[in-house]
Amino acid sequence: MAGSRTRKQTPARNGQTVGRSRGGDAWRPVFFASMMAVVVSIIVLLVVAADSLGQGPASPPGGAPADPAEEPAASPAELGRGSPTPSGAASSTPSPTRGADGTVIVACGDILVPLDKQHRLPADCEPSDLVQLPAEISFGGAQYLRREALDALLELFEAAREDGFILVVNSSYRSYDTQAQTYATWVRLNGQEYADRTSARPGHSEHQLGTTADIGARGLFLENFAGTPEAAWLAANSWKYGFIVSYPEGKEHITGYAYEPWHIRYVGKDVAAEVHRSGLTLREFLLQR
Ligand code: DAL
Ligand code: ZN
Repeated sequence: MAGSRTRKQTPARNGQTVGRSRGGDAWRPVFFASMMAVVVSIIVLLVVAADSLGQGPASPPGGAPADPAEEPAASPAELGRGSPTPSGAASSTPSPTRGADGTVIVACGDILVPLDKQHRLPADCEPSDLVQLPAEISFGGAQYLRREALDALLELFEAAREDGFILVVNSSYRSYDTQAQTYATWVRLNGQEYADRTSARPGHSEHQLGTTADIGARGLFLENFAGTPEAAWLAANSWKYGFIVSYPEGKEHITGYAYEPWHIRYVGKDVAAEVHRSGLTLREFLLQR
């Protein structure tokens, strides 16, 4: 039985046994070379896997280009403020990072992040709960806002109507790419210095949040809206409905942008009331939270 079991073993085993007995230690270099090749292959595989996990997808969801200026760096103590709202954002950046250009990349999905010339959103940050505004309040084509901001805006518009003012929306959600085109258009039309006083660079605009709207009335928009009774009504009342005029008159040295009485950002009624009471600009308020 023992003899037959030995014969049934694989030819390779038998050959190995034969080779060992006939060739002494000749198998050793081949064996060690094979082992080294296996170890090196495993190390290479581990390095490649770790690298690809750290980089994330080359092409982010939503069609926006990957932002080459983004890289993790700044400390949580320096950067952390607020926690991302889990809902409402197609992509979520768990913690702020610093871009290669020195700007702070804030969390996507948190409606209370500061956005100014030093703080910006990731290029692929898009709200997932955008809804189209009713046609009767949309000027110049379809307009979109996040659901909560639209509900508050409709309440604000109704209050304005009761006071005799018919308001419309001139601009609302703007993607990173749309903002890039908007900024480039202002640079082409009026030069970079003017553009930087009146238009945010891509990633830096509150419009990318999906909570910000440019208001008009009676066909009057942007600079023509300034000085109207509607602009005065908005400045006095928008906070009651959760909105703040982000760039008030005489505060360009703080906000970084020229007076925009038409540009209102939704922050929720409680926060808006706090901002109103504080007398601070929205930028100052959000930076000190
Ligand atoms: N006009 C403001 C600053 C914006 O472009 O978001
Ligand atoms: Zn605006």
